[in-house]
Amino acid sequence: MGYDKFSWHIDTQEEKSDIQASLIHGLIGLAEIRTGKKYKSILDVPCGNGRLHPYLKKLGYEIEGFDISEELVKEAKKKNKNCWVGNMMNPEDYKPRRYDVILNWFSSFGYWKTDKESLNVLEIWRNHLVKKGLLIISTATSHITFKPQIREIEKGVYEIMVNKSNRKKLNWLWGRIVVDKKDKLEVVAEMETYHRLYSIREMTRLLEKAGFQVLDVLEGNCLKRADDTNKPKMVTYLAIKH
Ligand SMILES: C[S@@+](CC[C@H](N)C(=O)[O-])C[C@H]1O[C@@H](n2cnc3c(N)ncnc32)[C@H](O)[C@@H]1O
Repeated sequence: MGYDKFSWHIDTQEEKSDIQASLIHGLIGLAEIRTGKKYKSILDVPCGNGRLHPYLKKLGYEIEGFDISEELVKEAKKKNKNCWVGNMMNPEDYKPRRYDVILNWFSSFGYWKTDKESLNVLEIWRNHLVKKGLLIISTATSHITFKPQIREIEKGVYEIMVNKSNRKKLNWLWGRIVVDKKDKLEVVAEMETYHRLYSIREMTRLLEKAGFQVLDVLEGNCLKRADDTNKPKMVTYLAIKH
């Protein structure tokens, strides 16, 4: 995949997609136990390249999704024809229907600057959920810290991720650079993205304001392969439409 503000996550997440889809299935099961409702239809927004769709379909869900990146939606359509290009902040880009579940997976909330915009997006989602519909948001909290990470992506080619955070405003900018070790340090690609992050208390308040009841907040967004260095700062919110 390319290296831009839309597709930076693909390489690191792709191989975990079946694990994450199974976890999502488990989270939906937990909500079913708590609400006594059965959930079948899912809107995955933003869906990225649709990496979760084949697995969620195998688990019996009807799934649709959209994403702002045309390139990623082209890939998603190969896996699921019910994907389209759209902006999650724009009510017009949603189909005129309601879903049992809205899935906002893997740090896909907060690509904007104000709480008003966060609230608007939550309200749009509420309008597209059935009664007692389930909203799943997996995202980083404002307590996340990144150390610069270096990863060899192919022989001699290194990817460096640098995080520039502004703790006061609870947001972060993330630059990602790919360099070739063999030559002198040549920047192959670089991107920056803006993310509005919330503490659990702030996010819970926003969800309640938008008309959701928070069912649970769980740590992490993946069943991880055991590793001594795991220090989770990702959380997953389960919230029900009142
Ligand atoms: C971290 S990725 C996660 C994608 C997907 N949920 C996954 O788990 O693979 C975030 C996605 O948000 C999309 N995106 C960013 N801003 C968006 C917007 N305003 N509306 C729709 N999609 C957006 C990007 O194109 C990217 O695919």
